[in-house]
Amino acid sequence: MKKYPVAIPWLGEEEASAAGDVFHSGWVTQGPKVGEFEKQFANYVGADHACGLANCTVALHLGLKAVGVDYGDIVITVSHSFIATANSVRHCGAEPYFVDIELDTFNMDPAALSKAIEEDFTEQDGQLWLNDCSRFECGESPLRRICPPKGRLAAIMPVHQVGMPADMKAILAIAEKHNIPVIEDAACAIGSQISMDGGTTWDHVGAPHGDGACFSFHPRKVLTTGDGGMLTLKDEALLRKVQLSRQHGMDTSDLARHGANKVVFEGYTVTGFNGRLTDIQASVGLEQLKRISEMVAHRRALATAYAEALAGISGVIVPVEPQYAKTNWQSYIIRLEDPTIQVAVMQHLMDNGVSTRRGIMNSHREKPYADQWQEGCLPMSELAQDSGIILPLYHQMQEKDCHEIAERIARSMP
Ligand SMILES: Cc1ncc(COP(=O)(O)O)c(C=O)c1O
Repeated sequence: MKKYPVAIPWLGEEEASAAGDVFHSGWVTQGPKVGEFEKQFANYVGADHACGLANCTVALHLGLKAVGVDYGDIVITVSHSFIATANSVRHCGAEPYFVDIELDTFNMDPAALSKAIEEDFTEQDGQLWLNDCSRFECGESPLRRICPPKGRLAAIMPVHQVGMPADMKAILAIAEKHNIPVIEDAACAIGSQISMDGGTTWDHVGAPHGDGACFSFHPRKVLTTGDGGMLTLKDEALLRKVQLSRQHGMDTSDLARHGANKVVFEGYTVTGFNGRLTDIQASVGLEQLKRISEMVAHRRALATAYAEALAGISGVIVPVEPQYAKTNWQSYIIRLEDPTIQVAVMQHLMDNGVSTRRGIMNSHREKPYADQWQEGCLPMSELAQDSGIILPLYHQMQEKDCHEIAERIARSMP
């Protein structure tokens, strides 16, 4: 019986050889390969600027800080995401304010965003302030250490969940109305496309549509460098801020000092972090970028095969793209009409050689956030987690594998 893991990265000899070249080059971190990768990445997604970083969590953290998120602030985002989304807000000393998702895209519901802003915040002195900060006076919330809690709405952070583009047109209209910056969590969305004009023209996710977009190169993502991240930006001034923060606040890079023909002393102008990407990772990323179109096209063919093969199975809901989205299918998540059978179906599949994962987690159900958010407060997010099953999808699969897995799913249904 053929066994299917849930994901396998697609790394080949080209990546190994590129990394080997960097070993022997004498420059292994934050050097020329990082600069080249940033340039090629920006070119691919259509961004003006890109900044290579250690991972997506660092990109979210530094991106939020660059647009002004500060101690005691609030960032509206979704709970239905990998916990790094919410954690990155707390790393800024701010607090995530969760809104619900649309069940068919697993992404921020623009109506829920609008309702939260209208009902839970009040405008004062040109800023929006959370009416009631009391839920944050306990647990790990940074707001409990700030007296009295500020609760200024400082940013909105939609997630392009498992590569499916969020409804940026609707979200940006709300953000612009209230003059709130937008940082996109595009961790999974390299190669996904979005149309802002009803399907006539298409841009890559991360162009960016908000102020910045953050990508992950973890091995579960379509493009991997082992670990790693990238922040794409519209504004050069924001790029400079992030470049400073990623290297301890140092105002002259190692590369600039290395290339100088006069003695240069660096200064340290802000309290920075270490968010560097290595040249070893960047060299792998450059090779992966050459294959990205092929990787996305193959995933899209596999998703079509899954949709055909699963269509007749009663009780299984297959994912569909909204009219404005072409996803990279970083993950293929089916939903069960009856969530109570989720574990039994997953166990049956595991016993029959198919590895799966439950639907995407909800941060508000985990210890660091459960003090602030009660079970039942985000019904669509909770249903998506409880009824979702992530199926195997990786480059080495063929369409016939999707049909084989669908047959095993059919047999697992009660
Ligand atoms: C939506 C989302 N945001 C953020 C992250 C964090 O990415 P990284 O592991 O590169 O920090 C992930 C990783 O899985 C993710 O899926």
